[in-house]
Amino acid sequence: MTQKYKFPNGFLWGAATAAHQIEGNNTNSDWWAWENSAKRANQLIAQGKNPEDYKSGIACDSYNRYDEDFSLAQQLGHNSTRLSIEWARIEPKEGVFDEKALEHYEKVLQSAKFHGLKTFVTLHHYTNPVWFANKGAFEKKENVQYFVRYAEAAAKRLHEYVDFWITINEPGIYSVHAYLLGIFPPNKHSLIKTVKVTLNLLRAHNLAAPRIKSITQKPVGLANQLSDLVAASPLAKITAGLAQYLANDFILKKTMANCDFIGVNYYIHHHIGIFGIRENSRRGHKVNDLGWGIHPEGIEQVLLRLKSYGKPIYITENGLADAKDTRREKFIMDHLYHIHKAINQGADVRGYLHWSLIDNFEWQEGFWPRFGLIEIDREDLLKRRVRYSAIKYAEICRSNALEYPH
Ligand code: BGC
Repeated sequence: MTQKYKFPNGFLWGAATAAHQIEGNNTNSDWWAWENSAKRANQLIAQGKNPEDYKSGIACDSYNRYDEDFSLAQQLGHNSTRLSIEWARIEPKEGVFDEKALEHYEKVLQSAKFHGLKTFVTLHHYTNPVWFANKGAFEKKENVQYFVRYAEAAAKRLHEYVDFWITINEPGIYSVHAYLLGIFPPNKHSLIKTVKVTLNLLRAHNLAAPRIKSITQKPVGLANQLSDLVAASPLAKITAGLAQYLANDFILKKTMANCDFIGVNYYIHHHIGIFGIRENSRRGHKVNDLGWGIHPEGIEQVLLRLKSYGKPIYITENGLADAKDTRREKFIMDHLYHIHKAINQGADVRGYLHWSLIDNFEWQEGFWPRFGLIEIDREDLLKRRVRYSAIKYAEICRSNALEYPH
C-alpha cells in the first residue's frame, strides 16, 4: 500500500554541485595547491595511499561539460540546480577580475536557464584563491573586504541569471575542517583560529548580503549544515543543548537578519552524551559508504526547529555516498517523507536539492565516495550514466509528489 504526498505548488526540485568538485583544473585555488604539494603527497604515501587518487585534476570536466550536465538534470525532471562559482577563477590575482571567467559563468548560467532550471549560486564553497590564502584568508578581519568585493563583482555581472544567492557554504564546517581538524587547507589545529575564521565568515556574509541586495532583488542566504542532535540520556540534556547552540543555532542567529531564506544541508544525526558526542550516528542505523549513519527522521526535527525563524527554507544539500546505488532511492524517499511531515506541521520548506547531481571530487577523500544521481565513469572518458535512483527521483520531481509505502 502506498500513499501519495503532494508537495506545495511551485516546489523546487533538483540537485547541487560545487565548482572545485566538478569543474577540473581549478589551478589558482588553495585546494589545488594543497592537493599538488609535496606535504600532501608525503602524508598520503605514509598512509599507504596513492597521491594521484587525491588530486581533483580534471574532476568531471564540468568546466566544459556543464551543458551536458544541465541537459541531464532537465531530462530527469529537475526544475532547479545549485552550483558554485569559483572565486579563484574570477579573481585569480588580487584585484584583477578575469572577464573571461565571468563570461564563462554567464554561459554556464545561461545554459542552466536554457534547460529550465532555477539557479542557486554559491559564492564560496570551501575554496579560496591562492593570493587570498597567502594573505591569511578569513583568519584576518581586514581580509573580509576582499570577499565582499568579489561578491559584489559577481552579483553585478551575473545577477540576471541567478534566482537565489548563497554567500557561503557551511561556514562552521569549513572553519572546523580547515583550522581545527586540519583536514582542509591550510591544515591548522587551532581553536582560536577556528573561532576567528567562523566569526569572519559570518561577517563576510553579513556585509556581502546587503551589497548583493543593492544590485538585485533576489533572495540571499547561507547554506548551513544543520545536524540532528539528541541527548543520549536525560542527564545529557545540558550538553546536548550546548552542542545544539554551537553546531546549529549560533550561525543562524548571527546571520538571520541578512538572510532571506535558510539553506539546510542535512547529513548528520548525533547522540550527545554528558561529555559530548558519546555515540556517533552509526548506532542503530544503516550507514552509507563513508560510514555515516542514515537517519531520515532527523531532517524533520531540524526543519521543525527552524519554524521559529519565520523564513522560507530550502534543502540545499542532502545525500549519501552509495556507489552501488542500492540505498539512494529509499534514502531520498524516506527523507522526503519526513520533509513532507515537517511541511504539514508548518515548516515553510520550498525546495529540495539532492547532493549531488554527479559523482565528484569528495575533498580529502578523493573520488571514491559516489554521491551522484548520475555516475561518472572515470574509466571511460568521464561518461555520464544515469543511476536507477535518479530515474525514481525524476518521477517525484515531475509529479511534485511522493508515493510512499506504508
Ligand atoms: C559539502 C559538500 C560535500 C558533502 C559530502 C557537504 O557538507 O557541502 O561539498 O561533498 O558534504 O561530504
